[in-house]
Amino acid sequence: MQIYLDTGNVKEIREAASLGILDGVTTNPSLVSREGREFKDLLLEICQIVDGPVSAEVVSVEAEAMVKEGRALAKLHPNIVVKCPLIPEGLKATKQLASEGIRVNVTLCFTPTQALLAAKAGAWCVSPFIGRLDDVSSHGMGLIRQILTIFRQYQFSTQVLVASVRHPQHVVEAALAGGHICTMPFSVFQQLVKHPLTDIGLKKFLADWEAHHMSNPAEIQSV
Ligand code: E4P
Repeated sequence: MQIYLDTGNVKEIREAASLGILDGVTTNPSLVSREGREFKDLLLEICQIVDGPVSAEVVSVEAEAMVKEGRALAKLHPNIVVKCPLIPEGLKATKQLASEGIRVNVTLCFTPTQALLAAKAGAWCVSPFIGRLDDVSSHGMGLIRQILTIFRQYQFSTQVLVASVRHPQHVVEAALAGGHICTMPFSVFQQLVKHPLTDIGLKKFLADWEAHHMSNPAEIQSV
């Protein structure tokens, strides 16, 4: 499963990318406006940090205007994936952009039928928002499983990008379900690596090593 960061914050992206395991980034208009920066400059900086897909969302709501925006965004950098909302006009725009070879992430997906339509329109990926479904007492992960089953059944190449992730258990379940990509806030990304027993164990190992005045393995001469 590919791991993306769901943010427009370059400091967070740099830090996650430094681990060498970051596959891409998703942004949305809310995340971008939080940064208070020119959209184009921000996208270009993100594309320089991450060697992978970077989703950039259109803000028009009519197909023709979405296509125009999408073309302009895609021209900025080869890593850009155009994000279109899952509304009828968004599907029209997706169909057009996909026919031009532009990768589209169809976003704001909340039902299996919406996902099916996005796949039929030629979406590169579809983004079901699981956290927002859980928030309204629906079952976000159930939606992921339904979409994956449908896509497998008809061999759609559209990938399932698990979005609106709130905690590490969402990531575990996305991976168990076979989600292709999981995008998450930086705070969740940080939690993925953490376990108190790892920290306690490491502290003890190092303390035992120190207590016996062992040498640093880096100083051990090779034979
Ligand atoms: C996906 O690409 C969206 O940016 C995102 O996951 C939205 O998540 P939220 O529900 O935490 O805003």
